[in-house]
Amino acid sequence: MTLEAIKWRDRKLTILDQLLLPMKKEYIDVTCVEDGWAVINKMQVRGAPAISIVGCLSLAAELAHGTYSSASEVVSLVSKKLKYLVTARPTAVNMETAAKKLTPFAENLKNEGKSAEEIVEAVIVWCEKLLEDDVVINVKIGKLGAAAVLSHISEGRKARVLTHCNTGSLATASYGTALGVVRALQEAGRLEHVYCTETRPYNQGSRLTAFELVAEGLPGTLICDSAAAALMREKGIDAVLVGADRVAANWDTANKIGTYQLAVVAKHHGVPFFVCSPSTSIDQTLSGGADIPIEERSHKEITDVAGTRIAAPGIACWNPAFDITPAELITGGVVTETYVVIPPSATLSKV
Ligand code: MRU
Repeated sequence: MTLEAIKWRDRKLTILDQLLLPMKKEYIDVTCVEDGWAVINKMQVRGAPAISIVGCLSLAAELAHGTYSSASEVVSLVSKKLKYLVTARPTAVNMETAAKKLTPFAENLKNEGKSAEEIVEAVIVWCEKLLEDDVVINVKIGKLGAAAVLSHISEGRKARVLTHCNTGSLATASYGTALGVVRALQEAGRLEHVYCTETRPYNQGSRLTAFELVAEGLPGTLICDSAAAALMREKGIDAVLVGADRVAANWDTANKIGTYQLAVVAKHHGVPFFVCSPSTSIDQTLSGGADIPIEERSHKEITDVAGTRIAAPGIACWNPAFDITPAELITGGVVTETYVVIPPSATLSKV
């Protein structure tokens, strides 16, 4: 059983508050778009796919409990609320991708002469499908990714992998992307060990990935971010597996801060580096990584630990939440639900 970070029951949304994990398991209600924006912005829910699912379901929850007098009113509300949700966090593209599909979907229904109630119903079902589809997509990424990792390993051997940030059940509808590949390796009996970085400053690795690994009995070890190079030299890592917040058309990839340095170190050690990401994270409108907006977060995330200041008073800070890994360092490939591609363009497999 994977952890359920997003609960959608009777058209009501609750999410597991990831700021409290792993010490407390508390669900909070998300009743409207304003709540959705706030839980995404505060990172009570995080991870690119989960951001778009919670954003859309917050809209569905609001629509389900409102009354509307005309189709035009519903359509302009949907469009306005989606635009607002996109502003909650700038780097992950998935919410924007969803907004770009859902806005014209609602508009078309109005043009077809559907009533306010019919449009509300269709929009809610569309958002519910996002949640359902994400699990299916993740399982496909897991299968393709596991096969791609194993293609680098001699038959009969098990894989030792390193992952960064949290890309599991807490970052998606369930199963996960890079962590889904880890799960698929385990299911195939081919996982020897997974190392996870602590992922400063929000500690997605030590708080969330470690929590998932322990909860599911996966063989895992936590390392400091600064131990990755030593790990590759001393433990013989077979693959690095990370997720993505936005992949540009040339495969440059924005992901959690620290991903780029892992890719550099992996290249030095000849370790294949994989980006595991649903196709909804691929942004064909941006030609390269330099165009991807990088979110900068509060200095408090660096200076304080669990509410206590640890950094020297007066020190300046720089806290980008993401970095860009250039395509040429993605040596294992970009794994989506339908293909694995090794940049610049060689498609390894397609389903
Ligand atoms: O700041 P976060 O925790 O939202 O960052 C998450 C990541 O960088 C993940 O690797 C990415 O969203 C992929 S999640 C399947």
